[in-house]
Amino acid sequence: MSTERTTGVRIRGVRVIDPFRDVDSLEEDLGIIDGVFVRADDPELMRFPALDGRGLWLVPRIVDMHVHFREPGQTWKETFHTGCRAAAHGGVTGVAPMPNTTPVIDTPEWVEWEIQRGRDIGLVRVFPIGAVTQQSRGEALAELFRMYQKGARAFSDDGRPVTSSALMRSALSYAATFPAAVINHAEDLSLAAGWCNEGALAQQLGLPGTPEAAEAVMVWRDVILAGLTGGRLHEAHVSSIESLNAIRYAKTQNFRVTAEVTPHHLLLSDEALARWRYDPVTKVNPPLRSAATREALLHAVKAGDIDVIASDHAPHHADEKNLSYAEAPYGISGLETLVAGALTALVDPGLMSPMEVMRRLTAGPHRVLGLTYPGVVPGAAADLTLIDPRQRWRVDPAQFYSKGRNTPLAGMTLVGQAVATMVQGRWTMRDGEVLDEGLSNLH
Ligand code: DOR
Repeated sequence: MSTERTTGVRIRGVRVIDPFRDVDSLEEDLGIIDGVFVRADDPELMRFPALDGRGLWLVPRIVDMHVHFREPGQTWKETFHTGCRAAAHGGVTGVAPMPNTTPVIDTPEWVEWEIQRGRDIGLVRVFPIGAVTQQSRGEALAELFRMYQKGARAFSDDGRPVTSSALMRSALSYAATFPAAVINHAEDLSLAAGWCNEGALAQQLGLPGTPEAAEAVMVWRDVILAGLTGGRLHEAHVSSIESLNAIRYAKTQNFRVTAEVTPHHLLLSDEALARWRYDPVTKVNPPLRSAATREALLHAVKAGDIDVIASDHAPHHADEKNLSYAEAPYGISGLETLVAGALTALVDPGLMSPMEVMRRLTAGPHRVLGLTYPGVVPGAAADLTLIDPRQRWRVDPAQFYSKGRNTPLAGMTLVGQAVATMVQGRWTMRDGEVLDEGLSNLH
């Protein structure tokens, strides 16, 4: 006899925003039984509780394709468990952890370990990213295909660029045969001498700056190599006007190039340094850029040049972020402000529709990671986020589930909030509370 109990829920009158099917429906009723969506008129549904979804949005499969979970090796900053809890709290149903852990995720065994960790925790789907080069040292390619066979969805040396053009060319050519994307953290290290954006504010504070060109020269190189190889290139955390020009050029040439921005680059400029001054909470790589660049990034998302919004969730221990601007590590803890940050930057000012913003948090990352999902249709896994678009809330890092509380969004008012998260038919967060009792065995 099976010990599994049938579970289900009805959601009434919800606005379904489904970028996988291009459907934005007002006041829909839907049902979920045993982990999958069912038809709203399924007679079985009547046995299950109903939830009033009026005034809420239902968005399937939000994936944050750029997070740092610090495990193995730096568990004082974050663990897989705390990172997964932060994801559920932020309304995220899938994550792609970057491989810059200690040791680096550069073998099939480590990829399997990540997938198993994600399944055991059961809060969020985990799509590992393997290193491009062995130990991310930039000297020799890692075992890309064997990692791919075990479930790596893309490859990156994030935290560092793939400096050698020859290796980048090989990685793009090779990964295209699986096929998988190579995600580059574009940064010409000989130009990137600073801790913040090169400009008037850096000068006023006497902090060394890094120009946008440090990123853009490598984005242009990568675009040329994507054209040469036919490979799939994804540019992480784009933060420069000239990078946008390169990406636009690549798209006009039909190169397989996609790009990503973070909410912090959309919400803040280097003017944040005037407020936070020498507090390294603003220290992030790439740095917060000028107001003009921020504007250009917003318009590039609107124009469709940017395919993905991802957090670059980079938690650090408070003791590390309490060091001087020079000594503190780069990074912002972003998983719990990803959804609200994207809405605040783009939907609240009327720049973009909810559908187009949600596309960059759902179907966009799915495409880059080679994932398929049919949308909210009977039989599809019930992975969803309920969003209250009217909720205005103040970012208080003390409320984060992440161990990392480092964010310059602290104190800011965001508009829109994830109020519930469901993965495979089970609530992982409701009303701001993560529910991880008895979860496990995601498939
Ligand atoms: O600010 C950052 N922090 N940028 C990166 O590229 C790496 C990340 C980290 O791992 O802390």
